[in-house]
Amino acid sequence: MGYYMPSKNIDITEKSVKIPQHIAIIMDGNGRWAQKRGLPRSAGHKAGADAVERVVRACVELEIPVLTVFAFSTENWKRPATEVSLLMQLLLEYLQRKVKIMAEQNIKIRFLGERENLPEKIKTAIGRTEDYTKENTGLVFNIALNYGGQQEILHGVKEMAQAVVAGECSVEEITKERFAACLYTEGVPEVDLMIRTSGEQRISNFLLWQMAYAELYFTETYWPDFDKDALLRAIDAYGNRERRLGGLQ
Ligand code: IPE
Ligand code: IPE
Ligand code: MG
Repeated sequence: MGYYMPSKNIDITEKSVKIPQHIAIIMDGNGRWAQKRGLPRSAGHKAGADAVERVVRACVELEIPVLTVFAFSTENWKRPATEVSLLMQLLLEYLQRKVKIMAEQNIKIRFLGERENLPEKIKTAIGRTEDYTKENTGLVFNIALNYGGQQEILHGVKEMAQAVVAGECSVEEITKERFAACLYTEGVPEVDLMIRTSGEQRISNFLLWQMAYAELYFTETYWPDFDKDALLRAIDAYGNRERRLGGLQ
């Protein structure tokens, strides 16, 4: 487990802080950020993409092993078609502009979620991105896209059931580890710290299995305003939590 000395503008100078192995972020509040400024929601989503870039860079600097961001939920299809296609378009542009730079930073990019129903262009782009960065050994950057926690668990249950039917595994052999390997996050440690921006205090069907023991951190900051200092504050709060994991102190 790595340690870092928090930057001077964070009010903790004496002690080193525990670094979470896996940070998951519900990037919320793009629309309200824009509304507050009298701008269209699209402006909020664009500013949100810049925040993603800042936070990824900060995670590389802080040597966080895994970052997972919620980019588009299975429930987000309920939004107007224009907003959905804008979000998809922004993701495409983001990948086109940033994948090479991220690859140079040794980042391994993976996508979590159901791919079947995604537009062809997106499917191609995410396949290429994963392939292009698959040998990288630095930050694992997971982008949850068309992702739902319940859907992911069902997907895992079906995969497990098929293995049982095919005689590859008995019912008794179904363990927590074996089941976790049927999830999109196969091989990734469970979430240590979950951050949600914009003041909402709910999980919204994110990483349900993987957040079983995560520390939850909620901030009023809208996602487009989130930066390295905000991330440091969250990590600092995490470092001050006492994680008993069911045991005693
Ligand atoms: C988060 O911002 C981005 C996505 C869900 C894709 P929102 O679009 O949910 O912003 P608010 O919640 O309306 O402010
Ligand atoms: C959660 O945000 C999903 C993403 C950030 C992609 P939402 O804005 O969609 O969540 P609710 O509607 O407030 O639960
Ligand atoms: Mg929202």
